[in-house]
Amino acid sequence: MEIIVADKAGFCFGVTRAINTAFDAVAAGKVYCLGPLIHNPQEVERLRQAGVETVEDFSSLKAGETLIIRSHGVPPSIFEKAREQGLKIMDLTCPFVGKAQRHAEALHDEGYQVIVVGEKKHPEVQSIIGHAGANAVVIEAAQEVPGMKLGSRLGVVAQTTQSYGNFSEIVLKLLRISKELKVHNTICNSTTERQNAARLLASEVDVMVVVGGRNSANTTRLASICRQEGKPTHHIEVADEIKREWFLDAGKVGVTAGASTPDWVVKEVLNKLKSAAISR
Ligand code: F3S
Repeated sequence: MEIIVADKAGFCFGVTRAINTAFDAVAAGKVYCLGPLIHNPQEVERLRQAGVETVEDFSSLKAGETLIIRSHGVPPSIFEKAREQGLKIMDLTCPFVGKAQRHAEALHDEGYQVIVVGEKKHPEVQSIIGHAGANAVVIEAAQEVPGMKLGSRLGVVAQTTQSYGNFSEIVLKLLRISKELKVHNTICNSTTERQNAARLLASEVDVMVVVGGRNSANTTRLASICRQEGKPTHHIEVADEIKREWFLDAGKVGVTAGASTPDWVVKEVLNKLKSAAISR
């Protein structure tokens, strides 16, 4: 059984930057992160052991303590509240998310109703919406558009991990119902590269293994892209989830990993796959 890893897989620039900065920061003492730093439970546990504590609410933190804003960013109201409380803010918002936030803000200032294409409950989308004005809306799928009451001047941005397919389908529908449409493609290159590499690899192998947090939007999307290629696809978080029967008839197995999946998790998966291949 041949095991092939996707050309582009695993940690992206924004996640690498966030993880390295957080590990550097704990050298000076405990720090708090608003929500898990990345959507990978295994790496979040490693961070916790080093002194990065995840909090869902920072109201009990004392002035002078450090609060990390993760790569997904937050609405401006959260920054204001943390500043009022006297916290030291370590802003690790990914620059590409920051760009989407700034486009949303500018569109709103120019009088457009802002549309964010993305997952309604995802923290990154919530952070962009916080910059987009009170009448901003989130659209997840093109089918939602016909029933919506929207303004005639629409400004569109994307969650950075969206697929071009979904983004362009929604933009096309909006084109039909608007008088003026301004679109900023804010999909991140790392996302596109990982999605294209996963699609290509899935087309060439018999089975795909996608490694990453089940709570990771970009990993889940990689898995759905591989399934769209018609290949049996297994989304796992850790090597122990691998089952030999997945590969009984497989000549080639493809492996990819989300932008928030650490190398050490991928290595463990590859080792387990290699031993499964040897013992067949
Ligand atoms: Fe940033 Fe793109 Fe990664 S938005 S966090 S570099 S997937």
